[in-house]
Amino acid sequence: MDFIKVIGFKKSFGTKQVHSGVNLSIQKGECLGLIGGSGAGKSVILRSLIGLEKPDEGRVVFDGKDITDYTEDELVNIRKRVAYVFQGGALFDSMNVYENLAYPLREHTKLGEPEISEKVLTKLKELGLEGNDKVYPAELSGGMQKRVGLARAIIMEPEVILYDEPTAGLDPFNTVKIQEMISRLKATGVTSILVTHDMPSAFAVCDRIAMLAKGKIGAVGTRAELDASPGGIIHKFINGEQL
Ligand SMILES: Nc1ncnc2c1ncn2[C@@H]1O[C@H](COP(=O)(O)OP(=O)(O)OP(=O)(O)O)[C@@H](O)[C@H]1O
Ligand SMILES: [Mg+2]
Repeated sequence: MDFIKVIGFKKSFGTKQVHSGVNLSIQKGECLGLIGGSGAGKSVILRSLIGLEKPDEGRVVFDGKDITDYTEDELVNIRKRVAYVFQGGALFDSMNVYENLAYPLREHTKLGEPEISEKVLTKLKELGLEGNDKVYPAELSGGMQKRVGLARAIIMEPEVILYDEPTAGLDPFNTVKIQEMISRLKATGVTSILVTHDMPSAFAVCDRIAMLAKGKIGAVGTRAELDASPGGIIHKFINGEQL
């Protein structure tokens, strides 16, 4: 069964139509890579999956429920199940790393400080960030900020993770760290969507890749399926050809 579904998604900003009928299905436990040129509308699709954007036309279905017209109150229960790893990291600058990670646990759980501390320090260790708990975001490198952002997103143990360019601008070491984390989470049964321009990461961790181009999904398939159509839109995109 399709776990998450986007059906006939259309959206314009001003006079510019960005999506002209996007259809996309994500299976439970799958990692789907979503690629496409800058401005193609990838982030808008991700945001729509947790109701931060609404389509002008079309539907968004989450775990069998049509959430398109959900109110903010109704969306709370969806958002609890989904982590969004923002393109920019979105850390709280006035809080140190420990407080950034503890924040969602304090807001949304009844855990006591010893359990919070254990969870936070474990997550930092998993992402190679041990010893950085007292540091403020501004003192961290971009790569470390991204890893802290990821740690904070997954600390609530979400069922679904939406990654918006988690490896953009990272060096190979940090890129591999993030890839490993995505793979490890997938192995625990997490369903994920990875928006990226980083094709090695997409091929390393995704079960299927979908490409958004000209307002629609231009192609979707496994690596083997895509390799079987070497003249296809995804190969053209990867090779930097005009689409
Ligand atoms: N809130 C908004 N108001 C006006 N225009 C918007 C808004 N959000 C997105 N857009 C426009 O919609 C288009 C798609 O934006 P989106 O951020 O989804 O692109 P993207 O595929 O994620 O690009 P990138 O790879 O650069 O992150 C862009 O042209 C953008 O300017
Ligand atoms: Mg984007």
